Order: sequence, then structure tokens, then C-alpha cells
Amino acid sequence: MSQNSQEIKRRRTFAIISHPDAGKTTLTEKLLLFGGAIHVAGAVKSNKIKKTATSDWMEIEKQRGISVATSVMAFDYADHKVNILDTPGHQDFAEDTYRTLTAVDSVIIVIDIAKGVEMQTRKLMEVCRMRKTPVIVFVNKMDRDGKDPFDLLDEIEEELKIKVRPLSWPIDMGQRFKGVYNIFEKKLNLYTPSKQYVTENIEFNDITHPDLEKHIGDTLAEKLRADIELIEGVYPEFDVETYLEGDIAPVFFGSALNNFGVKELLDCFIQVAPSPRPVQAVERVVDPEEDNFSGFIFKIHANMDPNHRSCIAFVKICSGRFERNANYKHVRFGKMMRFSSPTAFMAQKKEVVDEAYAGDIIGLPDTGNFKIGDTLTSGEELHFKGLPSFSPEMFKYIENADPMKAKQLNKGIEQLMDEGVAQLFTNQYNGRKIIGTVGQLQFEVIQYRLLHEYGAQCKWDPISLYKACWIESDNKTVMENFKKRKSQYMAIDKEGRDVYLADSPYVLTMAQNDFPEIKFHFTSEF
Ligand code: G4P
Repeated sequence: MSQNSQEIKRRRTFAIISHPDAGKTTLTEKLLLFGGAIHVAGAVKSNKIKKTATSDWMEIEKQRGISVATSVMAFDYADHKVNILDTPGHQDFAEDTYRTLTAVDSVIIVIDIAKGVEMQTRKLMEVCRMRKTPVIVFVNKMDRDGKDPFDLLDEIEEELKIKVRPLSWPIDMGQRFKGVYNIFEKKLNLYTPSKQYVTENIEFNDITHPDLEKHIGDTLAEKLRADIELIEGVYPEFDVETYLEGDIAPVFFGSALNNFGVKELLDCFIQVAPSPRPVQAVERVVDPEEDNFSGFIFKIHANMDPNHRSCIAFVKICSGRFERNANYKHVRFGKMMRFSSPTAFMAQKKEVVDEAYAGDIIGLPDTGNFKIGDTLTSGEELHFKGLPSFSPEMFKYIENADPMKAKQLNKGIEQLMDEGVAQLFTNQYNGRKIIGTVGQLQFEVIQYRLLHEYGAQCKWDPISLYKACWIESDNKTVMENFKKRKSQYMAIDKEGRDVYLADSPYVLTMAQNDFPEIKFHFTSEF
């Protein structure tokens, strides 16, 4: 095996996703502790955008400063290189998370045993399903009372539309939580609340053995045997291939706060989770082990210091090896570029690196050369397919509040949209610009950044819209008719594609009924 291929095979690049508060930060921190990347608990906490901060933009700003360093957290564990991609905790930045999911090879979903599947998890899982990303589920907070584990598994299957397969099973919960039976490794992991970690890790190949009673008592032993029998009867045998195809999600139970079940999760993860996978470009499928370097920009992080307007463009390496100071092609510009200070992220430190391999994320200092989705290669014309845009949830007209600064405003809007801060639609009827976002905070971010980075002032005018739909039809006449009839509601997106702005679900249904030959899409790629 070549050195490239050895390096690539040992990489595990993934993201942890959850609804806020389920325990993503806590789990991340515990994984970093195992990897020796940090030495004290609490180190990752500061990266989190507090949920209370919705109106406190400066607070978020401070916290975002830290988040460049924690965007990727890499560590070595058992001969593997683990890259955890951080995703914003605040749901108003969900689009950032969607994009980060284009750069990972697998995902761990954290679910709170008491709350079950929540809204944000459902949305993120939709993206995983679209991309067929392999998913492992970690059911957290077993030290608290919560739902019946079997009910929760049903809920996960139904709500997240994925088949599950428990690989560990809890022995009671809340104050009575005794531990888990690790089905994957056939071990009994016992828990003592005060000890804060797995206190006993007992090989237990045969749970019919009477020793089980000694460890967990008669009642629980009997229940565990019955539960496991039921699991073996109801759920299919765990099959790594089915997991890798994104068709089945193994499930683990534990308590991140108490560091219980986390090592077991990590051990299984590095064994079964995929190393970098082939990536579909418009032209062809790119295999990670190809000699030539290729990668794409999935995230641009702006430096919030107005005196140094520079960004970091995050590149996911799709194939080969990246070398510092080598010449690479910026495909959209058709020109070669050299990068003298690419950074990698080891633990929580950012440092200049000489090389990186497929699966790794590197940061390239950028002064406006990159857009989200841009491809870099050793010379080949390749275009990696990004993630489609989703219809935003909130819309506002953006207007110039300082007539002397119209140029700055337009430039600012254009660059912020290239960074993927929000979506821009231009109404074809009145020429007004509409910004679409996932949450209110994004409007605040845009206003703040336009002022501080571009010296432009904007104001927001309300517009009542329900959805933006990308439309298409084979029938040109029908399309023209539709556009005429709905002219007030027709817009184009940043790429010039036709978008219909529906102001209510009712109007949208009517339009769909009246124009059966038109397809209405809620994502920009179809
Ligand atoms: P998030 O990143 O998904 O938003 O969640 P985070 O890890 O911050 O966890 C949310 C809250 O849940 C935190 O409490 C955290 O301590 C708690 N938590 C995480 N894992 C467990 C667990 O296994 N058991 C229990 N009982 N609690 C858990 P907090 O009060 O919001 O924060 P803090 O004051 O403890 O920092």
C-alpha cells in the first residue's frame, strides 16, 4: 500500500449533530479527552453560542472568534486520525451545519433520552439521507429518567426515517442506571454514578450465565435477557455494509457528562465508520486514493476584525495529498494558485502544515478568491457537487439606508452571499433584493457585517412569504404563462435560476394544481 493510501485509510472525518442541549458539546469534549487532545473537561464549552444570546450579537461575535480554532478538531486515537468537524450550536446557523455535512464521511447523532427526536435533528437527518451519509446514534443522558428505550428506537425509525440496530443496551436508567450491555463487544459495562466513568468492564459473551445476577441483581438480569432476546429477534443482525450505505444506524446508549459509554462508542466508531469515500464530481467519481490532489471549499469563515478583512476558506480534501507551496488550479478562475500558509487543526490549535491527505480539512487564508463550492485540483477540470440550497424560512427586503454607499452595499451583499451567509433573490417585478434566512440572527449578522466590513448601512423591509420554490418544466409555453401570471412573485436566485415566491401554503397548492406541468422544488438542485 502506498503511503498516501495508508494515510487516507486511517482517517475518520465526521460531525456530531444534535438538537441544541442534547449533549453535542459534552460528547465532543469527552472524545477529545480520549484522544489526548485536551486534558481538562470544560475546554470546549466556550465555543458554544449560548441559546440565550439571540439578541446579543456581540456575545455571539466573541464566541465566533474562538470557533475558527475549533472548527475542526483532530486527534490520533488507536492508529486512526480522527477529524471532528464542529457545527454551530445555534439553530439560526443551521445552513452552516448543512454545508459542513458535505465535508464529512459520517455522522454521529446525539439524542436526549428524555426529549427523543427533536426538530433540528430531523432536519439534519434529511441532509444525511440525501447524501446517504452513514449515521451512528448516541442516546445520551441515561443517568436521567427518560423514554422507554424500545419506544425511543421506534421513534427514531419513524421520525428520522432510518432503520436502527442497537449495539448496546441500557440496564435501567435515571438514578437506577446500572450500565449497558455492549452487544457489539459482548461486554457488560457497569456504572457507578459517583465515579464518573465506566467502573467495570466485564467480558460477557453469554448473558444467560448466572453471573449476570451477581452484577445487576435478579430483576434486572431477567429483564436484560428478555430485552436482548427481543432485540435479536426484532432487529436485523448488524451489518457494516448496510450501515455504510446509510440504510441502518447502529445505536449506543450512555451518558456523555459522566463519560459513560463514550469510549465504547469511539472504539466501535473507528472500527466501522468509513475512511474518506469516493466523491461525485460533475465530470466523474473521484476516488480518495487517486494520486492527484482535489478538494472543495465548504465553508468560509470571515475574520471579524474590520482592520484585517481576510477570511479562512475551509477545504475538504477529496483525493490525494495536498502540499504547501505547490501549484493548484482554482477551477472557477481557471488559474493556478500557490498556498504558502495552509493551516491544519490539531486538537484546538491551528498551525501551518506542509501536507495533508484526503479526508483532512485545511484552512486557506483568503482575501475574496473563494466561494462556497469552489474546486481546487492538481490541474484537472473538476467541479464537485455541493449541497443544494434549501428554501429559506424567513424573508426580508434589503434596502440601502445610506445613498452614498450603494456600491459598498452591493459588493457587501454579493460577498456575504458567496460566503453562504444567507440566500439572495431578486424580484423580477420590482427589482428589489430579498434576503432569505433560516433564522432571525442571520439578518443581524448581515446588517452588522455590512456596516463593519463594508461601511454600508442596510435596513430591512418586511415581506410576507412562505416558501421559495425553484421551478422547472419541459413545456416552455406553460413556463412563460406561469411567469406572466405570477409576475409579481417571480424572482431569480444568485445563479439566475427561476424562483417562485409563494406567500402562503394555500397559494402554493393552488399554483401546483393550476400548473400540473410545472415542477416545484424546495431545493435548488433537482
Ligand atoms: P449541546 O452542545 O448539544 O447544546 O449540549 P451540551 O453538551 O452543552 O449539553 C447540554 C446540557 O446537558 C449541559 O447542561 C450538559 O452538562 C448536560 N448534559 C450533557 N450530557 C449529559 C448527560 O449524560 N447527563 C446529564 N444529566 N446531563 C448531560 P447545562 O446545565 O446546560 O450546562 P452546564 O452548566 O452543565 O455546562
